[in-house]
Amino acid sequence: MYNETNLDKIEVNAEPPIEEPARQYYFMAKCREWVREFERINGRRPSFFTQTFGCQMNARDSEKLSGILETVGYQNTESEQADFVIYNTCTVRDNANQRVYGRLGVLNRYKKSNPQMKVALCGCMMQEPTIIEKLKKSYPFIDLIFGTHNIYKFAELLYTSFETEGMLIDIWEDTDKIVEDLPVERKYPFKSGINIMFGCNNFCSYCIVPYVRGRERSREPREIIREIERLVADGVVEVMLLGQNVNSYGKNLDEPITFAQLLQEVEKIEGLQRIRFMTSHPKDLSDDLIAVMKQSKKICRHLHLPLQSGSTRILQQMNRRYTREQYIELADRIRREIPDIAITTDIIVGFPGETPEDLEETIDMVRRVKYDNAFTFIYSKRTGTPAAAMENQVPKEQVKEGFDRLLKVVQDTAREQIAKYQGQVMEALIEEAMEEKHSAEEKHSMEERHSMEERHSMEERHSPENNVTMVTGRLSNNTIVHLPGDASLIGKIVPVSLDECHGFYYIGHICR
Ligand code: 5AD
Ligand code: SF4
Repeated sequence: MYNETNLDKIEVNAEPPIEEPARQYYFMAKCREWVREFERINGRRPSFFTQTFGCQMNARDSEKLSGILETVGYQNTESEQADFVIYNTCTVRDNANQRVYGRLGVLNRYKKSNPQMKVALCGCMMQEPTIIEKLKKSYPFIDLIFGTHNIYKFAELLYTSFETEGMLIDIWEDTDKIVEDLPVERKYPFKSGINIMFGCNNFCSYCIVPYVRGRERSREPREIIREIERLVADGVVEVMLLGQNVNSYGKNLDEPITFAQLLQEVEKIEGLQRIRFMTSHPKDLSDDLIAVMKQSKKICRHLHLPLQSGSTRILQQMNRRYTREQYIELADRIRREIPDIAITTDIIVGFPGETPEDLEETIDMVRRVKYDNAFTFIYSKRTGTPAAAMENQVPKEQVKEGFDRLLKVVQDTAREQIAKYQGQVMEALIEEAMEEKHSAEEKHSMEERHSMEERHSMEERHSPENNVTMVTGRLSNNTIVHLPGDASLIGKIVPVSLDECHGFYYIGHICR
């Protein structure tokens, strides 16, 4: 955590400041008094548990929630039977919503055995009015509900909920505000996500994100650079620049700047070794970006370029604003300019009106572009999106059959792509030791995404076949490599010989 504001110096009996983030620090100081009182009465600090559903944006938001909870004196725990439990929800597909409802039933039981327990919900799901109605009616034991636009107000909401009986709900429809400089508790000491923009203006017809995350807002480049410089000073070597569509970064700033220009500025930060970013919309990916990536020493050789469908007709219905041919041309251009790049993608199966012929076009596209990995999703109808009102929804059985067929091709293609590196020496950032247990949160996000790499992690990584301690590293192109080593390597970038390709990952050894 890098904010130096000293809570002890804050006058908690004065009126709360109007300015942000001063106002939130004031409420953090108030919360800390509450925590101290809890500690005095109970002889222990209160514990908290966060569960993140969904994407990297949510993961980063959860680090901000943890940052505030730790600043005010709560203690992190891996157990859901904590004094404060917060779910940071996702609503991109319905299965994430269903999981939240399932978990809430369990929390209700925990809360009955610990009356001090508080339950909070935030994130994308909370931006949907019908969901709030359902929660009010069926889950009255929830203490605090807030949305995506006012997450920066968490300290204030937390304090207000201490003072409030029953359910406290604060949801904003939209915001143009970005509050900087609040505490963050990073999950990894050596790598970090950085929000560069919030919201999305694209309105793909199946997607709920623009409705729950609001309009596109970019952070000022100097704020981004300042944040990364501080992270680097704190031991971070790899950053992931986050936005729903990073390629339209900076367009609406008072002094407009392009994403390619931002990357060049980030590249200059001394001590920073790797730069990643997510997600790129194909319609906005510029030649400048390709040129900047090509000459960069720090930008990783990985581009996530969501395709969604290989059929121009379906792409039009999805409001993606590119054709099959334009995508192929773009992918070819990228591979020509940066031959060692890995291209990954997102694909939706079962969009309304999708015929077996359309799906064939998608499958053909996977073979042509030779994706290094692909996240494949079954279309999920999201109330309020244009696609939900389309009449020709595809029958479930047809979707399932098509999904399985696509997955097989995705896996075959990815295997071939990954096998190309056999015998080479590449740099890997060592991320974890194999014995480490995955948190429930990670397991859920793994189940959520049909990623081969991640599934492999779940199934095989925790069963080392012999007694040699192993660590897991990530190559610039995002491929995973396991190698002998111990926890002292975590956070270091080391040259690794890629000895054996095991489908979606390598076994290697450090090669000096
Ligand atoms: N159904 C299925 N998948 C979806 N995605 C977004 N909305 C939906 C939906 N309604 C997928 C897209 C996007 C990824 C983050 O989630 O593939 O790129
Ligand atoms: Fe959703 Fe499309 Fe925006 Fe991505 S670009 S968040 S798929 S609307």
